[in-house]
Amino acid sequence: MVKGKFITFEGCEGSGKSTQLRLLSEYLGKEGIPYILTREPGGSSIAEQIRKIILDGRNMEMCDECEAHLYAAARMQHLKDTVVPALESGKLVICDRYVDSSLAYQGEARGLGMEYIAAINSQAITNYSPDLTVFLNIPPDKAFKRKHGADKNDRMEKQGLDFHMKVYGGYLKLLQKYPRICAVECGGTKFETNANIIALLKDKGII
Ligand code: TYD
Repeated sequence: MVKGKFITFEGCEGSGKSTQLRLLSEYLGKEGIPYILTREPGGSSIAEQIRKIILDGRNMEMCDECEAHLYAAARMQHLKDTVVPALESGKLVICDRYVDSSLAYQGEARGLGMEYIAAINSQAITNYSPDLTVFLNIPPDKAFKRKHGADKNDRMEKQGLDFHMKVYGGYLKLLQKYPRICAVECGGTKFETNANIIALLKDKGII
């Protein structure tokens, strides 16, 4: 049986990830390509419950290590409940954020270090590595200007611009290190970015 491909999307807040995922879904639907679109943290019943704890704006006293472990815990549950079964049934799995988010947010921006994050995510990194990771490459200061500021109020969005610039710096390091991560420039219109993403997926033999 042919196993499906696993692709992940990464980017800073305001990078237009949700819009791009919607446009890509519409395209895949039109083309009749079997896929699922899922997200982290969440994407399965238990993982969604963990998501609520992580993002709850009242949990401001959560320590960085706890946060990192909760993301890692939600990730394993989501892999087993949602991602692996879909891959085994031959579907293309598109995941909104994955391990690279933990490396950039908790490893780099929170300052826990990428080694620490890699260690607590070793199962996911070793056994469930994406075939391709699409990085929407726009720095948060530019993205926030475009969107007139972040529009959500969860615990992560409440972090200031400095934090989000560190996240971006983390992503740039990952981009240098892992050839599976491909940057897509997204300074143009949403339709231009969508076309760039489709071209990339075709070029890499994903679709
Ligand atoms: P979400 O509302 O899904 O944000 P976005 O639309 O930007 O993807 O919330 C997910 C938040 O969790 C987001 O701020 C990024 C953060 N995050 C981490 O810090 N580490 C992780 O491992 C993951 C998966 C997400």
